[in-house]
Order: sequence, then structure tokens, then C-alpha cells
Amino acid sequence: MADKALSTKHLLGIKYITREDIALIFETAKEFKQVINRPIKKVPSLRDITIANLFFENSTRTKLSFELAEKRLSADVINFSSSSSSVKKGETLLDTVNNILSMKVDMVVMRHPAPGAPMFLSKHIDASIINAGDGTHEHPTQALLDAFSMQEAIGDLTGKRIVIVGDITHSRVALSNIYCLQKLGAEVMVSGPPTLIPQDIGALGVRVEYDVKKALEWCDIANVLRIQLERQNIKYIPSLREYSAYYGIDKRLLDSISKKITIMHPGPINRGVELSSDVADSDQSIILQQVENGVAIRMAVLFLVAGLKQ
Ligand code: CP
Repeated sequence: MADKALSTKHLLGIKYITREDIALIFETAKEFKQVINRPIKKVPSLRDITIANLFFENSTRTKLSFELAEKRLSADVINFSSSSSSVKKGETLLDTVNNILSMKVDMVVMRHPAPGAPMFLSKHIDASIINAGDGTHEHPTQALLDAFSMQEAIGDLTGKRIVIVGDITHSRVALSNIYCLQKLGAEVMVSGPPTLIPQDIGALGVRVEYDVKKALEWCDIANVLRIQLERQNIKYIPSLREYSAYYGIDKRLLDSISKKITIMHPGPINRGVELSSDVADSDQSIILQQVENGVAIRMAVLFLVAGLKQ
């Protein structure tokens, strides 16, 4: 095996890792994808390493995917959910994490509603931290599994055209995807209602197209996002029905464009709002491949962040 390691001790965001880090994670994930498709899916790589999954916000895919990845790597795993914890009694984030770490935990996977929470922790604790989504900021492992799935679908992303459709303003997936895809040489466009696209997003070097049909005509892949009503304290769109009529992607819209594009979605899907079932479940969709790849990507990230060399 080559003697390659990540340039960073934590995975706080795609912004803070290099193109070489991404390539190393993908190379490692390819090997782990073979492992999890074997009859014996477990390897001893993280034996004697203890990982705490700290989820201060709801999750289905990310939480289960990290837990499965940790178990496939033979790590010891403890799970924390803020809804049933002493956070409800007023304990601070730092006190909570320091108490968990004093139980001899080596690594932390954390989802938190506050942007920057993993960065804050990284300055106060010694253990490595993997960001599993921090508010509207970043969701790095989602972007890695998205880009890995895109490469599987259409090859090298250099010069490829990817559109991210939907609620860009409130999406950590959008920001991490933009950073990741640009580091891999792709051209990135965002599309959605003007109220859900930050006015200064052009500063990140992305194109903006408010007409979703034109955006679909332009792209090779559309990564479709959910309207995050839980993060909207004012109304950004008149109604979900109107959003669906103007920005929802259905089979009729896809059939009306001149080429066959690939459709992705990080989940959870609001079926009938941003994506119709006849698209989500079609052969143009790679949504379940994204979920499968999530386990291999998270195994790779855990393995490399633990300081193990590929
Ligand atoms: N894609 C994603 O982060 O899904 P969960 O919120 O279910 O983890």
C-alpha cells in the first residue's frame, strides 16, 4: 500500500481539504466498496478505536451510514441523540463532548444545527472530528458521496456540468457540493427561485439560472435538493404547490429536454414537491446508489481521519 494520508486531522468541511485529499478518499472508498460487496463485509481496520456519533439534529441516512461504516471497520461505537440527553437539562456542547471523551473516545462524528459547531469543538478537544452536517454550513461526507457517485455515472468530472436545483440558501449540501465539484474541475450551476438563491453566490464562481428547464438543458447531472421548511422562519415561496409547478422535476419536464441527464437527490425527498416519483424511481435516478456509496465513503473518511494510511 502507498504511504498516503489526509492533509488534515479533522473533516470539518470540503473547503478545508485539498483535491488530493478528495482523490485519496475516493481511492480508499473504491477499495471499501469492494469489501462491503463481499460475503464477509467486515475488516479489522479500526479495532480498538472508539467512535462517538453525536447527533444534535435529526438524521436517517447519515447516522445509519456512519454507524454501519464504523461497524464494518470493527470500531467500538457509542450513539448520542440530543433529544434524549442531558442537553435538555442545560448542559453545554463542550461539557457534553468532554464528558463523552473522558470515557476514552478516540473520534467524534457530529451533526449539529449551529453552523461552525464542529470547528468550535476542534479548537477545544484533542479527538478528531468529522462533520456530519452543521446547520446551513457544510455536509462534507454528503458532497464526497455525491461526487463519487457522479464519477461512477459519467466518469472524470473535469469540465462536466452539474446543476444543483432547489433551496440553495438553506442547504449545507449545496455549499459542500459546490466546493467539492469545483475542486474536481466541474462547472457548477445553481437553479431555483430567486428567493432561495443567495444574491452573492456568483462570488463562489457558480452560474445562476432561474429557469429550471434551461438549467436541465445545460447540465450533465442535476442534483435536486429539498425545500428546508424547518430552517425557514419566513416564507420564501408562496406555497409548495407553486414551487412544484415552477421548479419541481417530473418525467414530462425531463422528456422535454434534448438529452438524457442523471438525477440525484441527497434525501430525504419530498415526493411530488421537488421530484416526482416517476423521476425519483426511474432509471435516470442514482439516488439509491448515492446511499450505497455513502457507506464506502464514510468508511474511507473514518479510516483516513483515524490516521491510517492508504
Ligand atoms: N442526506 C442526509 O443528510 O440525510 P439525513 O438527514 O437523513 O442524514
